[in-house]
Amino acid sequence: LTQERYPVKRLPFSTPSEADLAAFERIIPGRVVTDTEVLAASNVDWLRTVRGCSRVLLRPRTSEEVAHILRYCHERNLAVNPQGGNTGMVGGSVPVFDEIILSTALMNQVISFHSVSGTLVCQAGCILEELSQYVEARGFVMPLDLGAKGSCHIGGNVATNAGGLRFLRYGSLHGTVLGLEVVLADGTVLNCLSTLRKDNTGYDLKQLFIGSEGTLGVITAVSIQCPPKPQAVNVAFLGCPGFAEVLQTFSTCKGLLGEILSAYEFMDAECMWLVRHHLHLTSPVQESPFYVLIETSGSRAEHDAEKLNDFLEQALRSGLVTDGTVATDQMKLKALWALRERISEALSRDGYVYKYDLSLPTDTLYDLVTDLRARLGSQAKRVVGYGHLGDGNLHLNVTSEDFSRSLLDALEPYVYEWTAGQRGSVSAEHGLGFKKKDALHYSKPPAALRLMQQLKALLDPKGILNPYKTLPAQA
Ligand code: FAD
Ligand code: MLT
Ligand code: ZN
Repeated sequence: LTQERYPVKRLPFSTPSEADLAAFERIIPGRVVTDTEVLAASNVDWLRTVRGCSRVLLRPRTSEEVAHILRYCHERNLAVNPQGGNTGMVGGSVPVFDEIILSTALMNQVISFHSVSGTLVCQAGCILEELSQYVEARGFVMPLDLGAKGSCHIGGNVATNAGGLRFLRYGSLHGTVLGLEVVLADGTVLNCLSTLRKDNTGYDLKQLFIGSEGTLGVITAVSIQCPPKPQAVNVAFLGCPGFAEVLQTFSTCKGLLGEILSAYEFMDAECMWLVRHHLHLTSPVQESPFYVLIETSGSRAEHDAEKLNDFLEQALRSGLVTDGTVATDQMKLKALWALRERISEALSRDGYVYKYDLSLPTDTLYDLVTDLRARLGSQAKRVVGYGHLGDGNLHLNVTSEDFSRSLLDALEPYVYEWTAGQRGSVSAEHGLGFKKKDALHYSKPPAALRLMQQLKALLDPKGILNPYKTLPAQA
């Protein structure tokens, strides 16, 4: 499947042999998986668009075991595919050929939590939602949240530098991650698992691994700064008559809500159709061309409610918003968030999904969606736009009944060229993985690309870590 759609040649790595399996069995007894059902699930990505043919999956529990495995693979020239929750959107989490899958599923222990500073140190395979529950029980929240929280691992989040739904409030993992423990391709353990907020001793090496998508090292533990849990959370779900109003509503709410604004998400009418039709969710507001979800998080409920009401009154009075609903209780909050968070799930039920994750200037952010609808006509089943508007991040998705080469050709490189023309990014938060690696040059100059290739060669001279991913193949 993968090789038919994307021309790629297997590099001359060794093929895992019976002797290799026996060696792995000695390193992690009982955790060398060759079961075909488990492998089938781990060989295919969440979107079911790329599929590898690995015959072995390893489940280490400790960093020492990871180090031992990598030392062995390095020596034997065996390719390795690090895998967390396998929820990645760019085909980076599954093998292309027969790479060994190195899963963090059993590396799921919290190492420490400091109840004053809110610093959490944990193994890379902890599931994001479980970490959220752990820190919330102690009066803190994770600085990131995303629709895949129930399955994605914190190590996978760091490896992809996931953005998500709290980015507007707490910023990038480049700021909230305080330290990492990483095992390098040759098995060296790099312990930079600091819990310090400030540490200017030399180059900040951990930053290299945040967003490196498993190509520079295997993240085995993460130290992350958790903010205090907000006392009051409100969500408003609003209908807007046009994209201009979506933008003006954003400006208005930034002005009126100020420091309590914690999320500003948008979705178009097609997205609402998808979640209603495929997931049977109900819309809480009248049908509108656009919808926005605004979240506030603050420390005093009455103060936040007052601010939110002032904002809503003004937005309704001026016609920026035509209908809306507000939630404070947990059940209704969740139901409103589901309308936005579950769009990707609804899309995957609509057919084959062509997924683009772009950073664009907010003023022109939706133009590409309108432009593509006209350009593609009946070639596409649906062209939809949604995303983290507060961060300038558009999720542009196109569906068709089945994979279509001509539709893909109509989309690429057109979408990338359009984005480059706006000086945008061809990957805002999902990374490049397997499917977007050749688009890197649309957003980075040749000198940056060369330096990336040199860094890869320095840290992984044999290229065994997640080959065929993130960087374009070298001539
Ligand atoms: P995987 O998918 O297993 O792996 C992703 C990449 O990281 C691969 O290249 C893999 O090799 C590498 N990797 C994994 N673990 C390690 C490790 N320990 N060390 C080194 N490399 C590793 N992303 C966003 O940014 N924002 C969103 O809002 C968002 N929402 C999503 C909603 C849904 C429903 C889904 C399915 C995905 C969403 N994503 C989002 C995509 C996002 O990239 C992933 O959900 C998440 O960050 C990946 O974590 P994972 O554990 O599943 O990693
Ligand atoms: C989202 O914001 O919903 C995620 O990034 C997933 C997606 O883009 O489909
Ligand atoms: Zn997103």
